[in-house]
Amino acid sequence: MDLEEEVDYLRNRVSELEALLSRQAGDDPFRRVVESAPYGMVVSDAQGRIVMVNPQAEAMFGYSAESFLERHIEDLVPPQFRGGHAAKREGFHGSPTPRSMGEGRDLYACRSDGSEFPVEIALTPLVCSGETLTLSAIVDITRRKRDEEDLRRYASRLERINTELESFASIASHDLQEPLRKIRMMGERLAGISKGQLGEQGMDYLARMIRAGDNMHRLIRDLLAFSKVGAGPDRFRILSLERPVRDALSALDLLIEETGAEILVGELPEAEVDEALVRQLFQNLIGNALKFRREGVAPFIRVEGESGAPLMETGQTGVMIEIRDNGIGFDEQFHDRIFQVFQRLHSRADFEGTGIGLAICKKIVDHHEGRIHARSIPGEGATFTVILPFRQRAAEEDNPNTR
Ligand SMILES: Nc1ncnc2c1ncn2[C@@H]1O[C@H](COP(=O)(O)OP(=O)(O)O)[C@@H](O)[C@H]1O
Ligand SMILES: [Mg+2]
Repeated sequence: MDLEEEVDYLRNRVSELEALLSRQAGDDPFRRVVESAPYGMVVSDAQGRIVMVNPQAEAMFGYSAESFLERHIEDLVPPQFRGGHAAKREGFHGSPTPRSMGEGRDLYACRSDGSEFPVEIALTPLVCSGETLTLSAIVDITRRKRDEEDLRRYASRLERINTELESFASIASHDLQEPLRKIRMMGERLAGISKGQLGEQGMDYLARMIRAGDNMHRLIRDLLAFSKVGAGPDRFRILSLERPVRDALSALDLLIEETGAEILVGELPEAEVDEALVRQLFQNLIGNALKFRREGVAPFIRVEGESGAPLMETGQTGVMIEIRDNGIGFDEQFHDRIFQVFQRLHSRADFEGTGIGLAICKKIVDHHEGRIHARSIPGEGATFTVILPFRQRAAEEDNPNTR
């Protein structure tokens, strides 16, 4: 290029920049869009020279609008990435299409004082007076990154505490079993040899002691069951829910016979579940429906399902199963509390139990990312509704053995 051409080029360039500058000054809709954008906007030319910025970019990078216009886009890139950036910029100008930069990669920008901050950048080509410019929309994601990091730390802490608690519950309940077994056994033996020696009151104390031991035995057994839910590897399979319901009913056959219960099982949908856990879920719910019956009224229990009905919060379709009884019911203000460990609304004198059954149900349903809730009218019966996702979310996609 000889000098004349050079001057010509510069003259053209100056008039283009003047046009651009006058657009900056005037009431230009493009300018207004850039200025009002909630993120930093930097317009640069093919050589990487900055030709327009918005106030958000000024605040983000710490340059004034004037000093920005003397800069090069590479000045905004941390020194260690500058070399590679020029080549990428040329690549973009070679095939200018809108794109986001650094997908799946951590991207950093550099302030006027040299400090660096994480960013997300979207690039848009702009054709302006025959020249292709690049509009970079820049978001400072320092806050988001920090929040994500906090969340990750919080989640892993929760997970650790949860694992500790679970193994504590399981070890404690397991280790408590042995001494308790001995206490109960010695109590029985003492009762056997003490007839006539302990007197009526002594025998009463002893009987109460043995009953308390039996209670504790049930508590520990149920706590152990609670702590075990979902502890092993996932065993999700697609099956008709009729099977675990049938198995639950056959485990309860004695009680069904004793109470003269009538149980109607409708057509039940299929879903991807852990069969053993879901059998336990139905057994607990139907067991409660049998137990909390009205005096003199044979239990009438309906187990009904509906598929593809509800949409879960996770966006999946679910299947719904309802277990409805005609028993004593409960005060609906406690519909949440009954799913907590040890929470019972009826006295042990009237209905034996540990108050862990529904907590186990809740844990099983949570393990499936489902939902459970209860409705009731005292004296007229209770309805428990379980909603399970039709399929487990990509649970073990890479492990075909569990399917
Ligand atoms: N089908 C039902 N009808 C009435 N009350 C119920 C029913 N199921 C559960 N409940 C209430 O919820 C409480 C908690 O249930 P659960 O955790 O299974 O404990 P448990 O069966 O050992 O009492 C019960 O004690 C009872 O008060
Ligand atoms: Mg129960």
